[in-house]
Amino acid sequence: MLHDVQQGGIFYFIDSDYCAMTIVQNTLADEIVALRRAAEKRFSELRSVDDLEKFRVEFLARKGSIGELFDKLKTVPNEQKPGLGKQLNELRSFVESLFESLQQKLNPGKKGEEAAIDLTLPGRTVPKGTLHPITQTLNDIVAIFTSMGFAIATGPEIENDYHNFEVLNFPPDHPARDMQDTFFISEKILLRTHTSPVQIRVMEHQQPPIRVIMPGRVYRNEAISARSLSQFHQVEGLYVDRNVTFSELKGTLVTFAREFYGKDIKYKFRPSFFPFTEPSLEMDITCFICSGKGCPMCKRTGWLEVLGAGMVHPNVFRNVGYNPEEVTGFAFGMGIDRTTALRHGIPDLRMLLENDVKFLEQF
Ligand code: PHE
Repeated sequence: MLHDVQQGGIFYFIDSDYCAMTIVQNTLADEIVALRRAAEKRFSELRSVDDLEKFRVEFLARKGSIGELFDKLKTVPNEQKPGLGKQLNELRSFVESLFESLQQKLNPGKKGEEAAIDLTLPGRTVPKGTLHPITQTLNDIVAIFTSMGFAIATGPEIENDYHNFEVLNFPPDHPARDMQDTFFISEKILLRTHTSPVQIRVMEHQQPPIRVIMPGRVYRNEAISARSLSQFHQVEGLYVDRNVTFSELKGTLVTFAREFYGKDIKYKFRPSFFPFTEPSLEMDITCFICSGKGCPMCKRTGWLEVLGAGMVHPNVFRNVGYNPEEVTGFAFGMGIDRTTALRHGIPDLRMLLENDVKFLEQF
C-alpha cells in the first residue's frame, strides 16, 4: 500500500537505466492526495465495528496518519502553509465523514464509544414462557387438595380394559366400552377414558388409609367441537380408611368448591350413577358467568355441573383385595378443561389445544 512504503515523505525507487538510487523529495501536497486514496481504499474493506475502530486509530487518532501530516505542516515554508493547511483540513473532515457514516450504520442513533453500551437504557426483558392455563388450573386444584392432606399419584394413559372398566365394576355390555366412546388400540388395550383406573393401581399397591388425588389426560372418541374434545384432563380423588362417611365426601367437595370457585358459591348434589360408586352423586354450582340467572354457558339453567363422585362400590374393594366390611371410602372425578375455559371466559375448548402463542401469552 502506498503509505506503507513511504517513509518520512520520501519515496525510494530504483532507476534501472543508471542502476543508481535516486531520492525524490515528495511534497506534502502529494502525500495528502495519496493518503486520501489510501483512506478510501481501507474504508472500502471495513466489515465490522472492530475494523472501524482500527480505521479510526490509523487515520484519525492524534498519532494517526493525518496527525502526522499536520505535524509536517509546521516544517513547510510559511507561504505554503495556508493552502496546504486547507487541504489537510479537508482531508480530515473527509475521513471523519467516512468514519461517521459507517458508525451510523453499525450503531444507528449513537455516536462514539457510548454507542456500544448505553448504561442509561432500561434492560432488555427476556421473553418468559407461562404455564398453560390447564396446568395452572390443575396446579390450583392440586394445591387445595394437598393442603387437605391428599398425596398425588399418576398412572398410564395407555391402559388395559381390566383397569379402565372391568375392575371398576363395568358390566361387560356397558355402553362406555363401546367403540363409539373408547379409542381401542387392540381388543384389550385402549386409551384410558377416565382417571379412575389410577385409583385401582394405587389400591393394588397400597393398603388403607389412602388419600390421593390423580391428575391426568384422558381420551374419548367424541366429535370435536367448541364444547367437547377427544382428549381432555381430569383430576380424580380417592379416600379410603375405616369409617369414611358420605358426609365426609360432601364436606370435602364443598370445602374444595368454596376454595376454588369462591366463598359465596351455591351448590347442590344430584343423585347419579357410576358403576364403581354407590351411592353416586354429581355436584352442580351456580353458574359463575351469569350468577345463576341463566346464560348460554349454563344452557340457561343457572347451574354448572362440576364433578362426579360417590362412595367406593364394595365390588371395587373386593376386586383389589380389600375387605368392604372393614373399609369404606369415597372417590370423585372432575374435568378441568371446561373449568379452565369457564374461569377465563374462553369460548372454544379447542383453543386450549392449539398452542397458539398469542393465546397462551394471555394467561
Ligand atoms: N370417572 C368418572 C367420569 O369420568 C368420574 C368419577 C370419578 C365419578 C370418581 C365418581 C367417582 O365421569
